Amino acid sequence: MTYLLALDQGTSSSRSIVFDAHGHIVAQAQQELPQIYPQPGWVEHDPMLIWRTQLATARQALAQAGIAARDVRALGITNQRETTVLWNRKTGEPVHHAIVWQDRRAEPACAQLRAQGHADAIQAKTGLLIDAYFSGTKLQWLLDNVPGARAAAERGELAFGTVDSWLIWQLTGGQRHVTDVSNASRTMLLNVHTNQWDDELLALLRIPRALLPEVLPSSGDFGRTDAGVLGACVAIGGVAGDQQSALFGQACFKAGMAKNTYGTGCFMLMHTGQTFQTSRNGLLTTSAAQPGRTPEFALEGSVFVGGAVVQWLRDGLRAISASSEVQSLAESVPDSGGVMMVPAFTGLGAPYWKPDARGTITGLTRGTTLAHIARAALESIAYQSAALLAAMGRDAVAAGGAPVSELRVDGGACVNDLLMQFQADLLGIPVVRPAVVETTALGAAYLAGLSCGIYADTEELAHLWRAERRFLPTLERARAAERMARWEHAVAQTALGHG
Ligand code: G3P
Repeated sequence: MTYLLALDQGTSSSRSIVFDAHGHIVAQAQQELPQIYPQPGWVEHDPMLIWRTQLATARQALAQAGIAARDVRALGITNQRETTVLWNRKTGEPVHHAIVWQDRRAEPACAQLRAQGHADAIQAKTGLLIDAYFSGTKLQWLLDNVPGARAAAERGELAFGTVDSWLIWQLTGGQRHVTDVSNASRTMLLNVHTNQWDDELLALLRIPRALLPEVLPSSGDFGRTDAGVLGACVAIGGVAGDQQSALFGQACFKAGMAKNTYGTGCFMLMHTGQTFQTSRNGLLTTSAAQPGRTPEFALEGSVFVGGAVVQWLRDGLRAISASSEVQSLAESVPDSGGVMMVPAFTGLGAPYWKPDARGTITGLTRGTTLAHIARAALESIAYQSAALLAAMGRDAVAAGGAPVSELRVDGGACVNDLLMQFQADLLGIPVVRPAVVETTALGAAYLAGLSCGIYADTEELAHLWRAERRFLPTLERARAAERMARWEHAVAQTALGHG
């Protein structure tokens, strides 16, 4: 038997999955990752815990599969993106907690860059809108605020990495300091046209080049694990940021193919082939996972509150006692009874970009019940995703392409049939759930499998991908358009937050 091991280091947990060569799950293990909130708006992780939980799950998954590390042909890594780790090259000790992607502390530095008029040049090189989300200004903050860090960085004593680099450093016993293009594209330091770190951006953010990892394609030679780590040397053959990895695991390899991951938030990515496309609708341009040296791109948009709205029904409203109850509560009424919820708890992202917006529930009547509100909450996930897909469609058409013709789905909430059917009804295109919904880990396994010749090319992977269920649109287009118009009306009514 041929096995691939995928390490999936996410924001809330570290997971490891053993796949067979057909992409079937053989075994998996998971451990929670503690969150650290030092002050409002700040989010950190302990890098040593990232590593230890990841390693523990890798060992557990191998044990559960009943195999040893020497049975694994190659290992793939996928990870929460943008999260920034800075460590000492000699001791391997982190100089600070990792600054997590959700952390807003670098916003003043970003405001300054915007005020200085750098937005267009940065977008042209990196595809990104200036934001504290990305690693560049987080790293700048560390260099400016950790005593001695800048001087040590200039002496070449420190290493920066996103979580993939940090894990590879640990796995290889400090032998390799590398990253892949899809992770590097989230730093706001990479020229995504050349896949090189950009000297002008480094100078602008005052980042010493000596800190940076080598940038590699997403499939290839990332080193071998130290024999002591898993019990044998295993080739690290694939690396990609989690959203790009999911796009790859969904076999979306060609322009116009798109996936949506329904997690706490939702991340939608549409492949644009080798075309770097700048969005006119508030989306980001990002490097797709690249098996070879040719740059490939995707448009990306995210919904801040996706599945989190169900957690709010459970913990805030106490309308349900477990998230799994939401479908039956929502299905106990035929529709939302005119109730519309916009869960703009933390503002609205693409395509609205209303950071100060706060949530609303509209259309309440004397007959409104918790079931209507639950249904509206669930529907809000689909409305927000539909608005994103519409924005992608406008960008695709403006660039001479075609709108997306089917949406592939994954993530925790994609098991909710009611939500998926409503999504298809709003979009007017099939919503397709794959047989293996662990597409993030699968993408990393595929990239690793390509590197060691288990798979010949992406064509072969496209044939392996299987749909479990296709949700076909049943709603008349005119009715769907009415609903979207009501949604947009509700978005326009989102109140500004206070304080
Ligand atoms: O950009 C952030 C994203 O990569 C985080 O994903 O699944 O760890 O929440 P996740």
